[in-house]
Amino acid sequence: MWLRDALLTFCRWCNGSFFGHGIRDSVWLFPFVEIFHLIGLGILGGTILMLNLRLLRLAFRTEETARLARDVQPWMLSSLAVMLISGFLLFSTEAVKMYGNWAFRTKMSFLLLAIIFTFTIHRKVVAADESRVKAGWRVSVALISLLLWSGVGLGGRAIGYVTTSASSVTGALLP
Ligand code: HEM
Repeated sequence: MWLRDALLTFCRWCNGSFFGHGIRDSVWLFPFVEIFHLIGLGILGGTILMLNLRLLRLAFRTEETARLARDVQPWMLSSLAVMLISGFLLFSTEAVKMYGNWAFRTKMSFLLLAIIFTFTIHRKVVAADESRVKAGWRVSVALISLLLWSGVGLGGRAIGYVTTSASSVTGALLP
């Protein structure tokens, strides 16, 4: 109950913020920010796919997994930062509507799980000496990672198809 109210208060604040207003009232700022969201998506998706194809031994077989992980890490971290910042800015333009949008909520749930999984179990498996990781565990970790990040992307794509009227969420007109 208190969490729901706190989230709604946060969404209202984002909606009324200068950056939420500024992007919402501008003709070109929203698509401009979305360009970064899409470029970040391509780079982040690419690094995650490369690592998991290697774990599944479907590609990059001549590369040592730990070394590949070290090489792609700067791209993964910087593109994730771009996704989080650009996503927050997109979100701030219609935060109260996003609050009631089940696709957005699903996406954020997958995103939280994907980030926790990537920086704990997945990171441990890609950094480990390959001969010490059981094949079944290596394949499972790769498949779980692909599933979680696909959930984020599909949730993001679905946002635009799920319409939420603000008044149905807040029971009141937006300020
Ligand atoms: C790594 C994380 C993320 C991924 C992979 C991701 C992926 C996507 C995708 C695939 C789309 C659809 C783009 C389109 O087809 O137009 C999208 C849109 C969107 N994302 Fe993200 N996203 C991420 C993080 C975030 C975060 C953290 C937020 C907010 C806090 C966010 C907010 C949004 C919003 C509001 C849209 C809808 C834009 C619209 O109305 O067209 N995203 N995202």
